[in-house]
Amino acid sequence: MEKKTFYITTPIYYPSGNAHIGHSYCTVASDAIARYRRMQGYDVMFLTGTDEHGLKIEQKAEAEGVTPKQYVDKIVANFQKLWKLLNVSNDRFIRTTDDYHVKAVQKIFRELYDRGDIYKGKYDGWYCTPCESFWTETQLKDGKCPDCGREVKWAEEEAYFFRLSKYADRILKLYEEHPEFIQPESRKNEMIAFIKQGLQDLCVSRTSFTWGIPVDFDPKHVVYVWVDALTNYITAMGYGSDDDSDYKKYWPADVHFVGKEIVRFHTIIWPAMLMALDLPLPKQVYGHGWLLFGDGTKMSKSKGNVVDPNILCERYGVDAIRYFLLREIPFGSDGVFTNEALIARINSDLANDLGNLVSRTTAMVQKYFGGEIPAERESDPLDDELIAMASALREKCDKAIDGYQFSAALTEIWKLVARSNKYIDETMPWALGKDETKRARLAAVMYNLCESLRIVSILIAPFMPDTTPRIQKQLGLSGGAVTYESAAVWGATPAGTVVEKGETLFPRIDVEKEIEALNALIPNPMEQKAEEKKPKIEGLAQIGIEDFGKVELRAAKILACEPVKKAKKLLKLTLDDGEGERTVASGIAKWYKPEELVGKTVVLVANLKPATLCGVESQGMILAADAGEDDVKVVFLEGVPAGARVR
Ligand code: MSP
Repeated sequence: MEKKTFYITTPIYYPSGNAHIGHSYCTVASDAIARYRRMQGYDVMFLTGTDEHGLKIEQKAEAEGVTPKQYVDKIVANFQKLWKLLNVSNDRFIRTTDDYHVKAVQKIFRELYDRGDIYKGKYDGWYCTPCESFWTETQLKDGKCPDCGREVKWAEEEAYFFRLSKYADRILKLYEEHPEFIQPESRKNEMIAFIKQGLQDLCVSRTSFTWGIPVDFDPKHVVYVWVDALTNYITAMGYGSDDDSDYKKYWPADVHFVGKEIVRFHTIIWPAMLMALDLPLPKQVYGHGWLLFGDGTKMSKSKGNVVDPNILCERYGVDAIRYFLLREIPFGSDGVFTNEALIARINSDLANDLGNLVSRTTAMVQKYFGGEIPAERESDPLDDELIAMASALREKCDKAIDGYQFSAALTEIWKLVARSNKYIDETMPWALGKDETKRARLAAVMYNLCESLRIVSILIAPFMPDTTPRIQKQLGLSGGAVTYESAAVWGATPAGTVVEKGETLFPRIDVEKEIEALNALIPNPMEQKAEEKKPKIEGLAQIGIEDFGKVELRAAKILACEPVKKAKKLLKLTLDDGEGERTVASGIAKWYKPEELVGKTVVLVANLKPATLCGVESQGMILAADAGEDDVKVVFLEGVPAGARVR
């Protein structure tokens, strides 16, 4: 029988800077699904790649004095290396500079033109250079780019347009008839609202730069980003090439995983383009949330606050990073990445819970039975709950995975891990081991623990592919006892299986030492050189008095001050802001001792959103000046009462 196919994609990433943990998040999530579906017997196609054209890349290459292709080649290699390191099992990797893609895009563009869905016109509007997007007046947010918040400028050019407006009703109907098309549900409402505002035709070519796919019948135009980028999902399968057998086999995609900021492109522009081409639509677009830093900002290349996944993998192992990304944040929601949370997860879930269970179990089977559990076993009602839980686990995981809820699947698996650890405490094998008449009971306890672990080891494979064989080796398992089918069968460990105690799976991490080492490794934005931080006043965007008015500055008296244990750069300040007390964490420990600050009055940004920094909830920030290359001076006030407005 032909296997059922399953086609999953990640966004194709911009190689404008190296891959970071945010990109890794989506790729690892897609990988977990691809692996899970393969395990279930699907014929999986898992595609990822890079989106290499556009002005931004052209500019970056120029700044480095290399050609755009040389520039992207280097970064794409870095992406590919990272995916290898992270055990990403993509079946294909598409680069939009690949020859077959370039040709197919030209074909698609011409086809849309011939059908009358692309026409030539003139474009004017507010243009955001970094996002390469034109915006209408009403789309701007406070006069800035609604996507990235940066300055926009008025621009005009001759361009080709795609008749997006024509498809508004059909797209709304698509959402109605296929409520599962956009996930999570909440993102659908945003899209409906966006369409109802009125869809404008979409500019799909540019004459202002050359690093792109030329429109073959009008070569001063290059194809603008979304037609070039979105079509990757079909060109990678051979659409528009001589051999389109994979396109026929795998398209339509079962799911496109994308970050929430590009859901709009995937659920409005992409289906409209496919409708215009008379092609089937993808079955689902899943918009996942963002990985944020402790201060609530999105991790991104342009902000320079990137956590290097290479360093993290090297220090903790690939599976620990994969586990953290998939477990910590419910897919669809935003989540905060902190080194503390990562280490806490590794220590509790991996070292304490799973690692300990494996080492305790294998050590006991060795100690009591020399590695081989006897066939004579005596059951007890104490076993029932554990067995029931283990037997039902696969179904629970399947269900969670069908809804792309990795965190829920892992939570279920870890419930069995916790239950197994509790089972050891309840059955007290060390007491049974002392009593020769309890040998059969002890054998049953050991067998049950090994069985639970066997099921766990199978089901964690899509998430932690390196850990599975390590556990199964210790349990002495292979063949029919480690299949997906056997994960739903209690008692699949065959007689004569020999268990051996092996290496520690996840060593515990000394939190304090590690945080210190990490702080030294990962550049702290607060520690950038004063030079770098100081842009020229002349080139700065001007703000209106109303913008300044949004910042509420108040005099605040420092009542107490102490170092923060986990972060040597931070001081924790207790302030009197005139209305009450509040805590602020400030990165000034290098320049001030706590006792120098107590009693002083400082300037507080009083309406800053609270953020947690190294475990301290910081309810505002205090003003300080860059006094030199490596010198910071806090702004002190004299003769001003706490709570006074500073303006
Ligand atoms: N090239 C376009 C996508 C075209 S798809 C046809 C693009 N590229 S990107 O490099 O900016 O990557 C965007 C994707 O990377 C996001 O949609 C998301 O999946 C992932 N992420 C990038 N930063 C991220 C976080 N900080 N957090 C979570 N995901 C992040 O947009």
